[in-house]
Amino acid sequence: MDIKKIREDFPILNRKIRGKTLVYLDNAATTQKPRQVIEALVDFYQNHNANIHRGVHTLSDEATSMVEESRIKTAAFINAPKPETVIFTRNATEAINLVAHSWARKFLKAGDEIVLTEMEHHSNLVPWQMLAAEKQVVLRHIPMTPEGTLDLEAGRKLITAKTKLVSFTAASNALGTLIPVEKIISLAKVAGAKTLVDASQWAPHRALDVVKWDCDFLAFSAHKMLGPTGVGVLYGKEALLEDMDPFLGGGDMISRVQLDRFTPNVLPFKFEAGTPNIADEAAFGQALDYLSAIGLDAIAAHEAALTKKAIETLSALPGVTIYGPKDISQRGGVVSFNVDGLHPHDVGTALDLEGVAVRAGHHCCQPLMNKLKTPGTARASFYIYNTFEEVEALGKALDKAIAFFMKKPAAVR
Ligand SMILES: Cc1ncc(COP(=O)(O)O)c(C=O)c1O
Repeated sequence: MDIKKIREDFPILNRKIRGKTLVYLDNAATTQKPRQVIEALVDFYQNHNANIHRGVHTLSDEATSMVEESRIKTAAFINAPKPETVIFTRNATEAINLVAHSWARKFLKAGDEIVLTEMEHHSNLVPWQMLAAEKQVVLRHIPMTPEGTLDLEAGRKLITAKTKLVSFTAASNALGTLIPVEKIISLAKVAGAKTLVDASQWAPHRALDVVKWDCDFLAFSAHKMLGPTGVGVLYGKEALLEDMDPFLGGGDMISRVQLDRFTPNVLPFKFEAGTPNIADEAAFGQALDYLSAIGLDAIAAHEAALTKKAIETLSALPGVTIYGPKDISQRGGVVSFNVDGLHPHDVGTALDLEGVAVRAGHHCCQPLMNKLKTPGTARASFYIYNTFEEVEALGKALDKAIAFFMKKPAAVR
């Protein structure tokens, strides 16, 4: 990977923050966009803007083709058997809610069980809590070990004939833990349960093949992988998607409407009501091209090297606790940490003074934070454009922050 060349494609990396060059380490929240994606957005609005699927004029045809081209690229990116099995949503959250609403609500009954994990993002917890309250479905959670991995033995016991769905993240956004996706899917299959993989923190960073995984559903967001905000993806097995009822009602999701009834449209449009996020969906194709040109294996290797260096650098500083697996091969490009006596928000603010952008807080994983017995962490997360020098800058900025705060009496900290 030619990082210098890659960085030239990201105009925002030239920004100064408080006089310092930006060091952007908040990629698990959202990634920056290369000019290829930005230019695709501008090109869309300057040259092709029209509503899609219903026009007979040239612009509408062009806009439709651009969105459908992105769908084909998305299908290829995850090895979905057909583009029709790729539904565009607003984000991963909406994709998971779609499954909860259109599949689980239709097919699950009181007493059925859904197995989640203690490491889920709120977007893979709350939709199921809402469903459980409505349908008296029982939620179970595969526990997290103190090291921040999943207790698979406990998982094996939790997934039973009562389990109808196992919905889990492929990689933890809070700790970086890589989850053994295929093992969990095979446990679910033995029990006859369906699976939903939240690939929000996997799809941007490592190769993914829905046929090999044989998952039933998969969700992720474009904005975490160089794409625009406002675009999410739900992949589902065709037969399941066919059996599901529409999520939202309105234009585009119908084939025929009378005053008192409607016939749903074919896949994928059955689940895409109303005018979609046309420009962003079209530009997402450029993000996928960009990632594919670099290659997912190279991306994963680069992030692993940055993560190793970050763990070495931060753990050499006084009072720093790093969370997540010790075994580097079990983690993605996320390093979550705390400094003794300091609130993560103070750490995040101090790093920002040095131009270093990290996330601080519970990372939408309050149950996981409760398990770690901390209100939150500071989190550095890496992507294709990050460099070893930036990891050093993080280390220096944290060292400076620690030195500054440690001079203050405890009550002021
Ligand atoms: C593991 C995981 N799942 C789901 C989401 C939700 O993504 P979005 O906010 O794009 O819907 C996130 C976002 O941080 C995430 O990290």
